Amino acid sequence: MRGLLYTSLGLVVSALNVAGSSFTGQKQCDSNICITGLRDSSNGTQTWTLAGPEGKDLGSSQVGWMAIGFGTKMANSQMVILWPNSDGSITMSQRNATGHNMPKVVQSPPRAANLMKSESFSNSTSTSFTFTIPSSSDSDANNTQLIYAMSDHNPGSSSPSANIVQHNKNGNMQFNLLATYNPNEGNSGSSSSSSSSSPSTAVYAHAAFGALAAMLFLPLGALVPRWARAFTVKRWWFPAHGALNGILGLTCVVVAFAIAAASFDDGVLGSTHTKCGLALLILVIFQSLLGSATHWLKHRLIEKSKIAWRRGPLNFVHMITGIAIIALGWVTVYQGLFSMWSSSYDSAPGNGWKIAFWVLMAVPAALYVIGLAFIPRQLKLEHELHNGTTKEIGTPTEEKGRTSIGRRFSPAA
Ligand SMILES: *[C@@H]1O[C@H](CO)[C@@H](O)[C@H](O)[C@H]1NC(C)=O
Ligand SMILES: *[C@@H]1O[C@H](CO)[C@@H](O)[C@H](O)[C@H]1NC(C)=O
Ligand SMILES: *[C@@H]1O[C@H](CO)[C@@H](O)[C@H](O)[C@H]1NC(C)=O
Ligand SMILES: *[C@@H]1O[C@H](CO)[C@@H](O)[C@H](O)[C@H]1NC(C)=O
Repeated sequence: MRGLLYTSLGLVVSALNVAGSSFTGQKQCDSNICITGLRDSSNGTQTWTLAGPEGKDLGSSQVGWMAIGFGTKMANSQMVILWPNSDGSITMSQRNATGHNMPKVVQSPPRAANLMKSESFSNSTSTSFTFTIPSSSDSDANNTQLIYAMSDHNPGSSSPSANIVQHNKNGNMQFNLLATYNPNEGNSGSSSSSSSSSPSTAVYAHAAFGALAAMLFLPLGALVPRWARAFTVKRWWFPAHGALNGILGLTCVVVAFAIAAASFDDGVLGSTHTKCGLALLILVIFQSLLGSATHWLKHRLIEKSKIAWRRGPLNFVHMITGIAIIALGWVTVYQGLFSMWSSSYDSAPGNGWKIAFWVLMAVPAALYVIGLAFIPRQLKLEHELHNGTTKEIGTPTEEKGRTSIGRRFSPAA
């Protein structure tokens, strides 16, 4: 018991109890942090203490800043951010954010927090921050939702409006502030918290589907016709192109997006990655419809009406949209891997991932550009076919099911 009293928490509780009021609340710990929330039953004032996880005090070198936000996500959450300064002082900054971006200082917050200097410290072996904040309706309802975040990078300035670097640990906790406070219970780890400091299965699945679409199926699907059409007048490239882009690519984009929509906190809504992902989804759907129209419907109609085939404006829109989609896919993957991932989880992707990303981007880009050099050859081939100097080389079985380019070109067909 004596040992407990000398922990920061014991000090806080005994300091508060001296005032003669009674407190209810809970202590919640996960692998990153212990948070204690107490509620003064006389006036509802809350006291929050942020400290290192159970059995692992955090020295000042490990604490850049620590923050809690009231709510379940970053967007529009009232946040209290605390950090130690080199002169031994502690800065408290109340902020809010519009999404997964840097929170901005709120000059006159609706609930003004008050740093308890006597209970807050950060020295070489241990850190604990305590502040009070006026009551809230959710604490009266015995259900207070919190998000927390922390980083080991100190803002390097004692100004409350200092820039802070993105968190590298974060999570959610739920407090019953009307529960009978029992520090031993909290210490024994009866916590209902969950931490998102390591990626969930949904994150891996989202990343896998997104990467398959953007780094494999979509670029490959564009390369197939680019190269095939310069060397053959057979139309096998069309089913390959349609399957890679319109089936595999489209499906992977839709699945990646659906996983994100179903599983991720909408605190990420404002991020570049999310915006790019949404734009990609819309474009890929649009492109699949356009592709069907350009390649398939049009050919059907032409065959029926026996109008001579011409490359129309739809082909060019389809091609430009395709290039835009592939570029957007790369940007989305880049943002997801190197911005979202490292800001959300403890482990940032290593250099191997960066190299893999650039190689997977550069190789198809180079092949496509080289492929453009064969456009004259492709046009010549199509021209010869049109004038009947080259015979359609498709086998009769191939021609049965699908319109062949030769039929459309050959006046005899
Ligand atoms: C709530 O009561 C405590 C003492 O019981 C006092 O220190 C504190 O200032 C009060 N807070 C408000 C907002 O009245
Ligand atoms: C966040 O802060 C801005 C600027 O002070 C304010 O307009 C906005 O209403 C705040 N949002 C919330 C949820 O407090
Ligand atoms: C750090 O501060 C705590 C609380 O004031 C104290 O118990 C501990 O001895 C200090 N550690 C060092 C190394 O100063
Ligand atoms: C608040 O919630 C805790 C935990 O569920 C429960 O033990 C306690 O009785 C509740 N208090 C009130 C007043 O509802």
